[in-house]
Amino acid sequence: MGEAKPCQAMWAFQLPSSLQKHLNRHRAAGNSIGFVPTMGALHEGHLSLVRQSNAEAGFTVCSIFVNPTQFNDAGDLSKYPRTEGEDLFQLERAHCDAVFLPSEEEVYPSGLDSGPVFEFGPLDKAMEGEFRPGHFKGVAQVVHRLLQIVSPDAIYMGQKDFQQVAIVREMIRQAGLKVRLVMCPTIREKDGLAMSSRNVRLLEGQRLRAGLIYRQLEMIRENAGHEPLADLEKRALQSLSSEPGFRPEYVRIVDGKTLRSVGDYSESDFIVACVATWVGEVRLIDNVVIKHSGEG
Ligand code: PAJ
Repeated sequence: MGEAKPCQAMWAFQLPSSLQKHLNRHRAAGNSIGFVPTMGALHEGHLSLVRQSNAEAGFTVCSIFVNPTQFNDAGDLSKYPRTEGEDLFQLERAHCDAVFLPSEEEVYPSGLDSGPVFEFGPLDKAMEGEFRPGHFKGVAQVVHRLLQIVSPDAIYMGQKDFQQVAIVREMIRQAGLKVRLVMCPTIREKDGLAMSSRNVRLLEGQRLRAGLIYRQLEMIRENAGHEPLADLEKRALQSLSSEPGFRPEYVRIVDGKTLRSVGDYSESDFIVACVATWVGEVRLIDNVVIKHSGEG
């Protein structure tokens, strides 16, 4: 137990100390380390992060840990899909060099409440912060701990969880960590639905209608330059609400840096439209950048 086991070409580690020993050998050989944290139930979205890391770093580590402290809903945690065998197979096919599969005790040796507390100001108040209280505290806590263990040169995260990226960027800044954060594009199904581990829980009819989320984000992007943003938010919200089984929580057009609502298109150089909606029993989020000009 706990020993490093070669899993054909990919190494699998459960203990932080065994992983660290292995990574130190690669560092000594001059390899940079790329890190992809996940909660498993892997799909092309996750694998695209592994590929991006492979392209830039000498050695890629992916972690799989379903972090209990970021689930504000116990039902969501217990229903979270767990597909470890398939995940390992997919990672190997994507040429991931090592997978880290820690237990809760290894991630939280001093208990679930341990670790530094960060203050995110407005970044964790709106959108996901409003509807999933405590969620980002858990995300920051686990990513901080994983970065402490892996100590990578770069961490790869998906734009799909745009607010999460903003939180992790701020956590890295506050903790003074020397790691480069790389945000990778959202990978979508053919109908535009953002890939998500939760999509497998959609019923067939719900899955067929779920492309509406992206279509509404596109509608906002197409009209943002010539219609009031508040009207577009309202129109998207109405369209989602009128779809059977859909219960949208928010449609927000925000500044890509501060995540504060943007009233007028000319107000910011970096604008993102974000959505969260229930589709039946499944909560889905998505976003698109509707304006990105200048330095930002
Ligand atoms: P998880 O939902 O498993 O996602 C792991 C990483 O994959 C995140 O950076 C997420 O943004 C990215 N990802 C998910 N779907 C994607 C898609 N369709 N396209 C591109 N990237 C996608 O996010 C988490 O886990 C957790 O909160 C974690 C950061 C691991 C902390 O527990």
